[in-house]
Amino acid sequence: MSFKSPRGTTDILPEHQPYWDYIKRVAADVSRRFGYRRIDTPYFEDTALFKRGVGEETDIVQKEMYSFEDIGGDHVTLRPEGTAPVCRAYIEHGMSSWPQPVRLFYVGPMFRYERPQAGRFRQFHQFGVEVFGDPSPQVDVEVIELAWLFLRELGLCDLTLRVNSIGAGEDRPRHVQALRDYYSGHAARLPKVDRDRLERSPLRLLDSKEPESQALADSAPRSLDFLSPDSTARWQETLRLLEGMKSVYPDLNYLVDHRLVRGFDYYTHMVFEIEPKDAAGQSTLIGGGRYDGLMEVLGGPPTPGVGFAAGLERFILNLQKQGVDFDSQSHIDIAVVHMGEAAGRRATELGAALRLKGLSAVVAPPGRSMKSQMRFASSVPARYALIIGDRELESGAGALKQLSENGEQREVPLTVEAIATAVKSTLT
Ligand code: HAM
Repeated sequence: MSFKSPRGTTDILPEHQPYWDYIKRVAADVSRRFGYRRIDTPYFEDTALFKRGVGEETDIVQKEMYSFEDIGGDHVTLRPEGTAPVCRAYIEHGMSSWPQPVRLFYVGPMFRYERPQAGRFRQFHQFGVEVFGDPSPQVDVEVIELAWLFLRELGLCDLTLRVNSIGAGEDRPRHVQALRDYYSGHAARLPKVDRDRLERSPLRLLDSKEPESQALADSAPRSLDFLSPDSTARWQETLRLLEGMKSVYPDLNYLVDHRLVRGFDYYTHMVFEIEPKDAAGQSTLIGGGRYDGLMEVLGGPPTPGVGFAAGLERFILNLQKQGVDFDSQSHIDIAVVHMGEAAGRRATELGAALRLKGLSAVVAPPGRSMKSQMRFASSVPARYALIIGDRELESGAGALKQLSENGEQREVPLTVEAIATAVKSTLT
């Protein structure tokens, strides 16, 4: 019998970790520049949180959740997204009494039972931000700006930003009715899956993946034509602010896409997505928008919210495509190479003392020839090999050999201070 990682999941091997460290560092750094603070929520929640928050009719709730009854009989779900859990935390911890708006960010795994393909996994990772307690278009545009700066700091360019407004909850029924009328007139052309959706949730037809439905979506009734005067004013202000952002980011090209409705029930007003220009398949890097009614649906005080989430696997694919190389970050400082029993024991102590001092150090495997230990040191890879044997123990000085570059070798006293100083002086 042989085991493999479950379908749609991947191991993140040591050689890929530098990409992950980098991307998470940039996410945290950019978030903090905007005053966002980190929150971590559990990897599983009450199933009802997602049913209510994300919406019973959405693909996620209908067919993509990892839900189960635990041994105690509770119904729980591995989180498919981060917004509903962060809202739950806002309510549970009384964050409405904190100074508003509350700005939060998170990074972590999400789980969706989807059909795996390039850039689409069953366990994937999101960096997300959420802002609570500020209904203004300024914050909508701040969130888009944060997404844009994140992409830029990672070195990704040639991107398309698509935006739309789906209006307030009160604007929705008239648009939904118009969609129902329009699509009913073309029902014969719709594939079965979308004919079923038409009854339950006509908005979903606008972002359908079915070619026939996509063709129909072009001339479908547009949400912007059903906005109340208030919603229209907000939307126009959002567009003015976005236009203003171009004075800082001249490459911030956006297009209003009336088919952009997003796959969750909680959205209101502004929604957006960012993808590479040459996009094909599962390529959306970032998706988000405003969700002013969600907090109440989850039993909290009426609180506007807006945010986005970025799929980190897709960023890493793009970084690798660009050939960004992080290998040099995985060096360690010293490998201790030792010959003889006494030197072996001293190597163990020296390794411990060097690590306590803040350096990274490994001790070569005992019982191997000098040549094999040196090969091990190069393969780690270590910047230096510290070589000790009986003679070195007696004289109190070992050989410190630089493994990269010129291979220079010199004597150092066998004290942690002397070794650390020698290594640090050439590391910088
Ligand atoms: P979402 O559009 O479902 O939104 O996901 C956001 C991003 O997560 C996508 O653009 C994509 O990069 C990534 N993603 C989604 N599913 C997968 C998958 N199966 N494999 C790999 N990557 C994936 C949300 O999750 C909302 N909670 C975003 C949000 C936050 N809206 C407001 N605040």
